[in-house]
Amino acid sequence: MLLLNCVVVVLCFIFCRASQNDGVGCTFASSWLESVVLSMKLNKHGFHRDLVYEVRHEPTSHPVQALLLHKLPSGVYMDQYQLADLREEMGLQVLLNSALDLESPAHVSSSFSALVFLGPPEPLHAAVPVHGRYHKASSTGGWEQVIIKPPRLLLRLEHCDTLDHGLPHRVVDAPCTVQNQSFCSWLEIEGLKVPSVSLELPVGDSSLLIPKSAGSHFRGEKVKSCFRSGLLTSQVSWKFAEWSCTVLQF
Ligand SMILES: *[C@@H]1O[C@H](CO)[C@@H](O)[C@H](O)[C@H]1NC(C)=O
Repeated sequence: MLLLNCVVVVLCFIFCRASQNDGVGCTFASSWLESVVLSMKLNKHGFHRDLVYEVRHEPTSHPVQALLLHKLPSGVYMDQYQLADLREEMGLQVLLNSALDLESPAHVSSSFSALVFLGPPEPLHAAVPVHGRYHKASSTGGWEQVIIKPPRLLLRLEHCDTLDHGLPHRVVDAPCTVQNQSFCSWLEIEGLKVPSVSLELPVGDSSLLIPKSAGSHFRGEKVKSCFRSGLLTSQVSWKFAEWSCTVLQF
């Protein structure tokens, strides 16, 4: 029995080490690193969009995992409940660094970070829903532009928790997987030229602010009642488009 244990340990020593050192080992060839391309785009229209990320590279003998560290501005949010559903349904792997208030407008919200884990299997690709926040109404109305800068890209080989050093790249410790149970060394790929994307969000016109109670005035007319309907009404500014008011007839 003892002998068998010894044999297993010795075999594992040989094969486990072999798998770590086989081929590319726990490092990336610099020529291979030059093949890495990250792209980001924003799909759909209006307030509810998809941030679509894709990492492409030359084939490797070992599966590569990518992690995007994405700092997002206060003008948008991600919905942790929606992300949990998408994790169940489609295996989308996103961690948020803080709990986000889904209702609060941009001017009282903070920026936040999302950790987006990509594959394997290839392709390293994800579509992550992102939502525009309402912006503070101004007396002129108009549009507000929210700029989303590209994420940082980290890579590691799936079978390696640590990286062999010696590359002119930064090594960053970050969660190994979306479960966030342990940390791994990741190689940061710098110098990628990924254009920012932006959303144009309508700004409410504060001269059209909705009355809170019956008996107030709305655009100079006496209001009987206002309620949330979920319907667009042409007389109410976009900011309060979920509100609808009945105006008193004289
Ligand atoms: C991951 O776990 C660490 C330690 O348990 C915690 O400090 C950190 O906030 C977690 N990160 C995220 C993004 O949830």
